[in-house]
Amino acid sequence: MMLRRLAAATALALPLAGGAVTVVGDGIPVALDGAVGDAARGRAIVASRQAGLCLLCHAGPIPEERFQGNLAPDLAGAGQRWTAAQLRLRLVDPRRLNPDSIMPAYYRTEGLTRVGRAWEGRPILNAQQVEDVVAYLATLKD
Ligand code: HEC
Repeated sequence: MMLRRLAAATALALPLAGGAVTVVGDGIPVALDGAVGDAARGRAIVASRQAGLCLLCHAGPIPEERFQGNLAPDLAGAGQRWTAAQLRLRLVDPRRLNPDSIMPAYYRTEGLTRVGRAWEGRPILNAQQVEDVVAYLATLKD
């Protein structure tokens, strides 16, 4: 409760891939780089074993993917539980919300430990891809 109030009172700028991104409370209210998300592309990223790898940990309403994870909450209903701003921060930098999170920071490139060589200095997803995934997750209302 205290923590939530504390979080709500802070507006901080994170140094991120494409420049500074402003965190307000537990979300990032403004789309990264002003990109407009496309839910269909976002779904493809979430389902992809190369791009998103989300289904390594999460299950989701993607019936064509037989193997889905059980290390994280089911993505079904994520758009009901969270606003777009909250979803965006959860993708950009999950450890800001849970320092012990095993979820990768999909857009943060500074202050990261254990980055694979290929990912050094660049985010896993670019701004457009993050916005596509946010748009897709926002459609998951139940
Ligand atoms: C290595 C495991 C892992 C991967 C890969 C991963 N996540 Fe997560 N995710 C988690 C865990 C664990 C949580 C629970 C909160 C926490 O511990 O940070 C979580 C939380 C979330 C939440 C909030 C869930 C809720 O409703 O409470 C969303 C949304 C989410 N992840 C989306 C994604 C998307 C989209 C991808 C792929 C682009 C992804 N995650 C990749 C582990 C993962």
